[in-house]
Amino acid sequence: MRRTIVAANWKMNGSTEMVEVLVGGVKSGLSGLDKGVEVVIIPPALYLRDVQRHLSGSEFALGLQNAACWQAGAYTGEVSADMAADVGCRYVLVGHSERRQYFGESDEVVAEKVERVLESGLNVMLCVGETLAQREAGEAEAVVARQIRIALAGVAAQQWEQIVVAYEPVWAIGTGRTATAADAQGMHAAMRALLAELGAPAEKLPLLYGGSVKPDNAAELFAQPDIDGGLIGGASLKVDDFVRICGAA
Ligand code: PGA
Repeated sequence: MRRTIVAANWKMNGSTEMVEVLVGGVKSGLSGLDKGVEVVIIPPALYLRDVQRHLSGSEFALGLQNAACWQAGAYTGEVSADMAADVGCRYVLVGHSERRQYFGESDEVVAEKVERVLESGLNVMLCVGETLAQREAGEAEAVVARQIRIALAGVAAQQWEQIVVAYEPVWAIGTGRTATAADAQGMHAAMRALLAELGAPAEKLPLLYGGSVKPDNAAELFAQPDIDGGLIGGASLKVDDFVRICGAA
């Protein structure tokens, strides 16, 4: 049995007031949720403690959106995986396409970050996905395979259980365009086969889909045999939408 995970990536959105409203709403909306779904809230780092305070007594997990390539030192403005572990996070997102696109993160930098997160004992939520141009050129699977191979090259046998992979086609993020359930399933099956080839216990690794997941498409996506949940951006900022998406998982 694989874990089912629904993660809320708030990106750079939030305020003290929003945290209170959103977390309060999600907490009460999900109070009857099937215990088989792991819900992860990934707020901006500055609000982690506030989210944690509002979540107390519930079973939600916390995540950090991005960690540095180092664990401590003179790296002004950075936050490390060790710090995320220290404040009680369970996950760190690594390689989100916005990090790759706006902050120039290469596959090699992503691989370093994966190693730091593994060292800190936390779980990696590795994001991969092709651009529209790459998809139209027929390169989607090759691009995703390269991202996975480089990012996970340093994973030791006993560390695979710390890995979750999220397939997020760049053209589907925040655009309202979603991959069809069949296309997403096809990519997820290819990723699982590749992970097995890399020595992972692939049947056990949760593979999430992200990119314009909404209440009205979540059930069909999550019903696919190789889609084990979702990484939710925009819809995670609306209590009702996020609660309904979690309910569909
Ligand atoms: P979206 O974002 O749901 O707004 O498309 C997903 C993500 O970037 O993780």
